[in-house]
Amino acid sequence: MAANSSNGEQQTTSKPPPLPSPLRFSKFFQDIFADMNPNTLVLPVQSNMRILVTGGAGFIGSHLVDKLMENEKNEVTVVDNYFTGSKDNLRKWIGHPRFELIRHDVTEPLLIEVDQIYHLACPASPIFYKYNPVKTIKTNVIGTLNMLGLAKRVGARILLTSTSEVYGDPLIHPQPETYWGNVNPIGVRSCYDEGKRVAETLMFDYHRQHGIEIRIARIFNTYGPRMNIDDGRVVSNFIAQALRGESLTVQKPGTQTRSFCYVSDMVDGLIRLMEGENTGPINIGNPGEFTMLELAETVKELINPEVEIKMVENTPDDPRQRKPDIAKAKELLGWEPKVKLREGLPLMEEDFRLRLGVTKKI
Ligand SMILES: NC(=O)c1ccc[n+]([C@@H]2O[C@H](COP(=O)([O-])OP(=O)(O)OC[C@H]3O[C@@H](n4cnc5c(N)ncnc54)[C@H](O)[C@@H]3O)[C@@H](O)[C@H]2O)c1
Repeated sequence: MAANSSNGEQQTTSKPPPLPSPLRFSKFFQDIFADMNPNTLVLPVQSNMRILVTGGAGFIGSHLVDKLMENEKNEVTVVDNYFTGSKDNLRKWIGHPRFELIRHDVTEPLLIEVDQIYHLACPASPIFYKYNPVKTIKTNVIGTLNMLGLAKRVGARILLTSTSEVYGDPLIHPQPETYWGNVNPIGVRSCYDEGKRVAETLMFDYHRQHGIEIRIARIFNTYGPRMNIDDGRVVSNFIAQALRGESLTVQKPGTQTRSFCYVSDMVDGLIRLMEGENTGPINIGNPGEFTMLELAETVKELINPEVEIKMVENTPDDPRQRKPDIAKAKELLGWEPKVKLREGLPLMEEDFRLRLGVTKKI
């Protein structure tokens, strides 16, 4: 049972989590003891961990799958509708005996026997989540309800990847988990940030009402290889522009700040949260803060000093500053990011060069 929430005393429950389904041990039983007499067998206490990753064909999800697959005790199932993800991200695991890939939309119910659910399915970039806002909010609300229903049915622990967007355009800085946010409920980003806020509410209601074991990560901007090229997120935009020799387009005023967490650090934080005893919500992100102009200058310096930096109009509701307070993650998960922006950008550059077919000039 989770020790406590990081966001107030009222939010945990003493209810025991639902029992795992009786089928929990059946696979192990069939695989390992197929030719023995089932009546005389003592069932093992722990068999392989069956882990579902929704949105596992996406950027963070596929890196999470890579890490989970390193543990030979894990069997990983990915469900994804490939809206923004790709089978290519999981190519090396397709056909592996401990891996399964299912084309499925989380807005439809799913029945499957699992022990843990990492629920990531949701487009994360503004270009994609604004493309079909009704679908985005359905994914956040109905998709999360479906995954919670599954967790309840099979007694699985479920982790939601929420977002720093739940803080909206924050009035306090940096943002601790206790901050309730400053969010526009009717804006063009609301399908995403209000959607995630409802998803968090659903997680806690299932926890309090049904004893479901929940974990909530509030993810701050993450970057790394396999991000969608041209997905409108600032790091991928700048790197793609620098490699194509185009101007780096900084949205006005350029002094708005973001913090950037390298994807391996993010995956480490998510696994620690899942395996630990705290429900969260817990901020996971890199507190190193950069203005958009500073980021553009760093990309220019590291990747293509010949490109120009051009100021362009901003999009509505763009937050002015974002920086995680990660005191809880440090204290409760023993986690803090290790990879610096100047180390992570070249790793991403390498991946983008391959995908864009741009070789490095020597
Ligand atoms: N990358 C970030 O900086 C960031 C920041 C905050 C929160 N997050 C959260 O982390 C999670 C993963 O983000 P990401 O950057 O890897 O994004 P991504 O777009 O690369 O991955 C999302 C995945 O979910 C899948 N998906 C979308 N809708 C679906 C649906 N209805 N059914 C099944 N699959 C669906 C997509 O095809 C994709 O594979 C998301 O929940 C996002 O909100 C990410």
